[in-house]
Amino acid sequence: MTNDHAPIVTADSASIAAAAKCLKAGGLIAFPTETVYGLGADATNADAIARVFAAKQRPTFNPLIVHVKDTAAANAAGHLNDTARTLADAFWPGPLTLVMPRKDERVSLLVSAGLDTLAIRVPAHPVAQALLNDAAIPVAAPSANMAGCISPTAAGHVAVGLPGAKDGGPEMILDGGPCDVGVESTVVDVSTDTPVLLRPGGVTVEDIEAAVGPLALPTAANANAANKSPGMMDRHYAPGLPIRLDASGTRPGEALLGFGPDAPADAMNLSPSADLGEAAANLFSMIRTLDGPPFKAIAVMAVPDRGLGRAINDRLRRAAHSSEGAS
Ligand code: TXA
Ligand code: MG
Repeated sequence: MTNDHAPIVTADSASIAAAAKCLKAGGLIAFPTETVYGLGADATNADAIARVFAAKQRPTFNPLIVHVKDTAAANAAGHLNDTARTLADAFWPGPLTLVMPRKDERVSLLVSAGLDTLAIRVPAHPVAQALLNDAAIPVAAPSANMAGCISPTAAGHVAVGLPGAKDGGPEMILDGGPCDVGVESTVVDVSTDTPVLLRPGGVTVEDIEAAVGPLALPTAANANAANKSPGMMDRHYAPGLPIRLDASGTRPGEALLGFGPDAPADAMNLSPSADLGEAAANLFSMIRTLDGPPFKAIAVMAVPDRGLGRAINDRLRRAAHSSEGAS
């Protein structure tokens, strides 16, 4: 592999139209969403989808999310039941992914790793919306990073993480600026009697439960959810350095990632005012900034486990877990 990454192109109507054309021709495009950048491909083109898995070195048993422009397009791809409709009305477009029975037989089975369900999301980012509108196809898009690495929240993160097209990466990185939400979408399986929270994310559990009642947590009983959403696998959000949670200060060699007004002034601070939305938006880019020399580890102060704090703590726990025993 060479060091050449794909060109970073400012997302305007001309570059978005070119990207849409490329997607329809089977190419891969990195594009912004409000959560993280995605690596998109035509969900109906099995060859293009196979290249997405190859580019990320992602195991093919880990299914992809299909992005569509609106609820009508979602209903063409999958079967929306009452719960799905209520959630779609409340949170789409936005950082929510719904797992439902698949409907559109043109969508490659590789997208859903052979499952009879499909994960569908309607992103709110104007560039993602324009791209989906121009392409007029369902676009499968995992986060635009190598499997097991931290998701990209800026175009430059994609460039350092993925090679260019001649080495199997995207043809183009559409630059839509930094992502507002900063953590991936919340994934809810609505194909079971009680909806199941498969991944906490950009829509809070509190808001979802206010709309549809209590969510179940994944158990062996509700259809081996661990297999259904391998994003829940422990080693998933791995930075290079070890992460230590619930820190109140640093040990020798550690960087401090703070939260709130009590953090030391010299710490990098997820949110000095303790705003969880700001903390989520800063999380991945701040970890990237601290993830290397002169530091040997990253100590992270406690973040409250409510609202977006649940998604933040989920990612931090995985990052800490994956670094156990790492050198
Ligand atoms: O915010 C996001 O969701 C971003 C942006 C680009 O949309 N995408 C993203 O994709 O995070 P990815 O591939 O990194 O995570 C997809 C998650 C995984 O946890 C996967 O296992 C789960 O969705 N998933 C996909 N299809 C599924 C299905 N049929 N059943 C259960 N889980 C599924
Ligand atoms: Mg990912």
